[in-house]
Order: sequence, then structure tokens, then C-alpha cells
Amino acid sequence: MIVQEHLPTKLFKDRTVFVTGGGSGINLGVARNFAALGANLAICGRTQDKPDAAAVELRALSAHAGGKVLAVAADVRDYAAVQAAFARTRSEVGPIDVLVCGAAGNFLCPAEGLSPNGFKTVVDIDLLGSFHASRAAFEQLKETRGCIIFISAGQAFVPMAYQVHVAAAKAGIDIMMKNLAIEWGRHGIRTHSIVPGPIEATEGMRRLSSPEMEKGKKAVIPLGRYGTVDDIGQAAVFLASPLASYITGVVLCVDGGSNLVGSALWNTMVEKMDLQRR
Ligand code: HXC
Repeated sequence: MIVQEHLPTKLFKDRTVFVTGGGSGINLGVARNFAALGANLAICGRTQDKPDAAAVELRALSAHAGGKVLAVAADVRDYAAVQAAFARTRSEVGPIDVLVCGAAGNFLCPAEGLSPNGFKTVVDIDLLGSFHASRAAFEQLKETRGCIIFISAGQAFVPMAYQVHVAAAKAGIDIMMKNLAIEWGRHGIRTHSIVPGPIEATEGMRRLSSPEMEKGKKAVIPLGRYGTVDDIGQAAVFLASPLASYITGVVLCVDGGSNLVGSALWNTMVEKMDLQRR
């Protein structure tokens, strides 16, 4: 992580960051960057094991600032579970300053083969789950004049084959984010979406890509490389920091320009993939 070389390592000391789905992948990368800058962290996942494992490294990273770390089991589809997780966070760690809505689900499926429940499942995790978290955190964010960062996707604005469910969910997240920016701005609450490009070594890449596609795709990304989880973490830290205090309602692409080139390559290659393995 390079964030400590560029920002004060106690920038988020005594600030509490809650990351849904924070036990792995991009979301854990985001949590790590905040921890390195001294934040208290609370993370949740559907089961207790992943957040528990992630909490060990987060504790080590934030120890220099006396950071506290809480790991809880909560499925973002269950509003009562999210409320309970946030209540525990408030009492054991502190009121939430930054909410990162990162919990997501995805798989590749042609629209004509997608069951209504498959579509609903992804919308429930990504979109409804993000609303649950935002709604449940509102009172704490109002108190802290905090911010929300949604982890969105290029599918929200670039149509991509076999992704109709995630496209609907992520487009919903981005417009919800803008609605919340105008409604909650008066409370000092800022809202943002980050759109990651292809991020190496993540579950999303394992599910959504193939070695053949990876080779072709890298060649067309304007910046010529895949992203890292730290690329996303750095953007999140910036948006949550005082450096971004007059920014709200934005969709920030952290994708090396990959969404600029469209989905033609994806659409051709996805048809050749073995969907049984995903
Ligand atoms: C077609 C599928 C499917 C598949 C599940 N379904 N997988 N349909 N192709 N590969 C259908 C099921 O048949 C079922 O519908 C419905 O979806 C619910 O499936 P369950 O397995 O019961 O749901 P659940 O256990 O809640 O699992 C949620 C999940 C799963 C999203 C479906 O894939 C999951 O838990 N994933 C783990 C998290 C994840 O996906 N990580 C990657 C994140 S990457 P029926 O009709 O049969 O009842 C990411 C990036 C997004 O999200 C942005 C893109 C860059």
C-alpha cells in the first residue's frame, strides 16, 4: 500500500468506517487503506469466518493509531441484521463516519436463461442491500456528517452481455446515490459511487473473466494494466477525506479508462466461456 506515503497516517484516527462485504476482495482492499490511515473498522459478511479472518490483518494495520476493529455476520438483504450490526458498531467502536456499500453478488448468465429469482437475488444483494445499509446508517451519518461510498460497476452504463441483472442493480445504485446526495446534503452527508475496472486477483475477475479474455482485455485498457484493490482503496480514502469535502453525487471511474472502450470485446468473448464453472 502506498497510501501511507502520501497521506498522514492518522488521517482517519477516531473515525469509524463500516464496509459491507469487507471480508474479501475489493472491499477488504478498501478497508485496508482506511486502516493504514488509522481508522476504526467494522466489516460484515454473510458468515462470521471471512470477516473474522480479515479483522486480524486490519487490527495490525490500524494499531499504530489505536484503531478498533469489529467483525460481524450480517447479510445485507436482512434489514434487521444490518441495523443490529450498526448498533453494535456504534456502541463498541463509535458512530459511523464512512459507510462503504460493497457487498455484491454476480454470475454470468444469458438473459433468456436467467430465472426471475436469479435476477432478484442480485438486485436484492446489490441494490436493496445498499439501500438497507444507507437507510440504517442515516442517523449515525447525520451525527458525524459522514459519507457513503457505493461500489458500483461499469455495467451500470455500458451494456454488457450476460450481465442484465447486475446492470439493473448497479444502475439503480448510481441513481440512488445521486438522490441521496440531494436529500442528505443538508445534513452534511456526501455520497459517491466508485466504478472499479477489472481488478486483479478478485472473486469478480475469477467469475467474470477467462485467461483468453484477460489477454485481449488488457490490450484494450487505455492505461494498459489491470487495477489493484489498492487503486480502489486510494480512491475511497480520497472521497472520504477532507480533500473531497465539496464533492458529492459523483460516479468516479477507477478503471484505467476501460469503460471508455465499450463492451464489444467482452460481448464476443463471453459467449465462448464455460459458464458451468462459474
Ligand atoms: C444462473 C444462477 C447462478 C448462475 C445462482 N443463480 N447462480 N443462475 N447462473 N451461475 C440463481 C439460482 O439458480 C437461484 O435462482 C438464484 O440465482 C439464487 O441462487 P442462490 O445460490 O440460492 O443464492 P445465494 O446463495 O444467495 O447466492 C447469491 C449469488 C452467488 C450471487 C447467486 O453467486 C453468491 O453467493 N456469490 C458470492 C458473492 C459473489 O458473487 N462474489 C463475486 C462478486 S463480483 P432459482 O430460480 O434457481 O431459485 C461482483 C462484481 C460485480 O459482484 C460487478 C461486476 C464487475
